[in-house]
Amino acid sequence: MKILTVVGARPQFIKAAAVSRALRREHTEILVHTGQHYDYNMSDIFFEELGIPKPDYNLGIAGGTHGKMTGAMLAAVEEVLMNEKPDWLLVYGDTNSTLAAALAAVKLHIPVCHVESGGRLGTLTNPEEVNRICTDHVSSLLLCCTASAVEFLRREGLTAGVHLTGDPMYDAFRYYGERLPADLLSGVEDIDGNPADIPERFYYLTCHREENTADGRSLREIMAAMDQLDAPTVYPVHPRNTERARRLRDENGFSRVLLTKPVGYLTSIALVKGAAKIVTDSGGLQREAFFAGKQCVTVFDYVVWPETMTGGVNRLAKPDAADILEKLEGPVIWNPAYQPFGDGHSSEKITKIISGEGAN
Ligand code: UD1
Ligand code: UDP
Repeated sequence: MKILTVVGARPQFIKAAAVSRALRREHTEILVHTGQHYDYNMSDIFFEELGIPKPDYNLGIAGGTHGKMTGAMLAAVEEVLMNEKPDWLLVYGDTNSTLAAALAAVKLHIPVCHVESGGRLGTLTNPEEVNRICTDHVSSLLLCCTASAVEFLRREGLTAGVHLTGDPMYDAFRYYGERLPADLLSGVEDIDGNPADIPERFYYLTCHREENTADGRSLREIMAAMDQLDAPTVYPVHPRNTERARRLRDENGFSRVLLTKPVGYLTSIALVKGAAKIVTDSGGLQREAFFAGKQCVTVFDYVVWPETMTGGVNRLAKPDAADILEKLEGPVIWNPAYQPFGDGHSSEKITKIISGEGAN
């Protein structure tokens, strides 16, 4: 079959790296990059490091309001779909690229396969929730990473085409995690392009959600918490935050927060494995912390991946320095035998289901 996959943002490149490898053994894949993420450290580095096939199309659409970005992608993906006439559209997660592609396909009667289906926070104030709900309701195959996602779909009356596959992020973590080059952390650059000099003991921070970046207050609280810890924090800054993070560091003297350029996936996994603890608002990073058995505090009002909260491995905190520090205290019980994200072979299951072989 001919599968047309649309990606656009950093976490989608990682998931596509895992799934494309399995998919291309059985099918022809056309890869479309919307252009949503475009800096070298947000896009090309993933294709190079992870050996992802070069996109057949790059639509060059990025930035602007949600409506403007999504609308432009909708029109551009529609044109590619009309040109390529695939048997399936394959999309990942919950970005504007996901929603635009799903809407374009369903109106052309091209069936949609949604990987990472069924995540729910329970609020439409989160832009990704809107993308997830709309995409799920126009998809023919709803492939879930966890049992809780299957249950969320059931509550919305979605049961046809729903499969529990496991999480391609876990596939990637297992596959690439076993192949990490030794000296990755020495290549990390600070936001000015100088060597970042990562210490032996460190904390790992990321922050990019709209909810935490709409004003400077949340990020100031998060950085203030990290600055008080017993070891420095490595903080690869999403480009939307670079100037704000620099200003907050300089104005408040947060000298223990090392601001670095965004890192490639392999370096990010090395940071996960090497960190004492992790603070994040990333959906992907909180799962990776769980995969590695690292204590994580997620600065967010909603539980994104309920399974990661088991044993206190992941805890929610308000964007408030005192709350973050309190939640970082633990206690934590991590049971390595409890692995709700699958067995590291979700990509093969996804491929089988698309091939019509894997009903469960
Ligand atoms: C998007 C996704 C979010 C996902 C995240 C992954 C939506 C609604 N959100 O959020 O679900 O968690 O990607 O990282 O789709 N920018 C650059 N260079 C880049 C990319 C972005 O400078 O390579 C800047 C642009 O000014 C852009 C801003 O960052 O306007 C935000 O980027 P955008 O893709 O809109 O949202 P993310 O926060 O990356
Ligand atoms: N990540 C990365 N470089 C960074 C920060 C994060 O490669 O500088 C990885 C991280 O390990 C995880 C993924 O990017 O695999 C998560 O993406 P992001 O936080 O951008 O999006 P989300 O998962 O929240 O949608």
